[in-house]
Amino acid sequence: MEKLLIEGGKPLQGDVRISGAKNAVLPILASTLLAEGPMQIANVPHLQDVTTTMELLGRMGVSLTIDEYMNIETDTSTIQEFFAHYDVVKTMRASILVLGPLLARFGHAEVSLPGGCAIGSRPVNMHLRGLESMGANIEVKAGYIHASAKRLKGAHLVMDMVTVTGTENLMMAATLADGTSIIENAAREPEVTDLADCLIAMGANIEGAGTDTITIHGVKELKGCNYSVLADRIETGTFLVAAAITGGHIKLKDTQPKLLESVLQKLDKAGATISSGDNWIEIDMTGRRPKSINLRTAPYPAFPTDMQAQFTALNCIAEGSCAITESVFENRFMHVQEMQRMGANIKVEGNTAIVTGVDHLTAAPVMATDLRASASLILAGLVAEGQTVVDRIYHIDRGYECIEEKLAQLGAKIRRVPH
Ligand code: UD1
Repeated sequence: MEKLLIEGGKPLQGDVRISGAKNAVLPILASTLLAEGPMQIANVPHLQDVTTTMELLGRMGVSLTIDEYMNIETDTSTIQEFFAHYDVVKTMRASILVLGPLLARFGHAEVSLPGGCAIGSRPVNMHLRGLESMGANIEVKAGYIHASAKRLKGAHLVMDMVTVTGTENLMMAATLADGTSIIENAAREPEVTDLADCLIAMGANIEGAGTDTITIHGVKELKGCNYSVLADRIETGTFLVAAAITGGHIKLKDTQPKLLESVLQKLDKAGATISSGDNWIEIDMTGRRPKSINLRTAPYPAFPTDMQAQFTALNCIAEGSCAITESVFENRFMHVQEMQRMGANIKVEGNTAIVTGVDHLTAAPVMATDLRASASLILAGLVAEGQTVVDRIYHIDRGYECIEEKLAQLGAKIRRVPH
């Protein structure tokens, strides 16, 4: 199993390009199932989750081509089956995103239930309830969701809680439904808006994406289009923290500050100097130790749960104490035990971690447990004294494009070894 070796203590310097967003490209790839003609997607990040989604679509019979610049072309005219196997779904929960499009366009779908994962139970009840309200027949047996509908009907959907992929699945299903659907308490994440923009380019009639009420007027068919994926705000935030934790000064290109205002505000409070333009962000933390910052995760536009672990790492070496409250997932402090092994002072009480900053972290062998936890351990390694070894890094390859190359380009001493 591959590992990352990191020699801590180098302040990051230089420029880095931010990739397309994982959480936007996955629903956009699923949305190609709705298109009558070929579709071209650009700014696709080279990630394991993208490869997995291509495998998922490929196994259904969708034709896929990819060029050296990671532009993907899909064509669903060759589709043969409407089935998502457990083997694929278990490695990537976002596979559930094929359910809405398959059902809406082809009238049936068989998709494995995703099951739990390291950060919590993560049910899909709201995806299923929404589709049922749109007239689908849904049966769950032997671990598979069996869904069918002659044609979905528009419905008024009030979501019990904010769910990102739930909103996306139902929005995609509603594009081809008979009549108008309204999703209330919808997720407002920028990736939901990016998917809506892509669907609109395919001919869908959608209003209100980016607000908590999305209205979708069903149309008869959608066509293919060319679409370029939004920048990854979580990769952006992770590199910003990498600069802040090492006392560095870096510029991030091809990203947008408006996607992560809550994160930028916290970095400002931590003492960083931040400047930005429409498509770049610069952060300077030269010669400064970060100050502790309290935070609470919640759906967009509040502080993202996908940045919680990285800010836990930052607070480990900050001046002062803080409380970090995780309100989105039930079990998202798996990184804490590993950070404690590096000398961090963290106590977890329920869904809150109390972090008291220490002067320095000490390198240790650590194990990555999920995607964002892996990123946080790399960040801790960048500032720890000695050589940190991060094991089980296959998690990081699911969601960060070329992370060690990008960090090395900024001056970090980091390399991948086979085992
Ligand atoms: C998406 C993101 C993930 C991010 C998360 C929260 C993708 C591919 N993944 O995951 O990176 O961490 O949003 O911002 O976009 N819930 C239910 N029933 C449901 C659906 C969700 O109870 O039917 C609960 C979940 O258990 C969780 C909360 O709702 O506690 C939010 O989850 P959700 O927004 O659905 O997360 P994902 O869409 O899976």
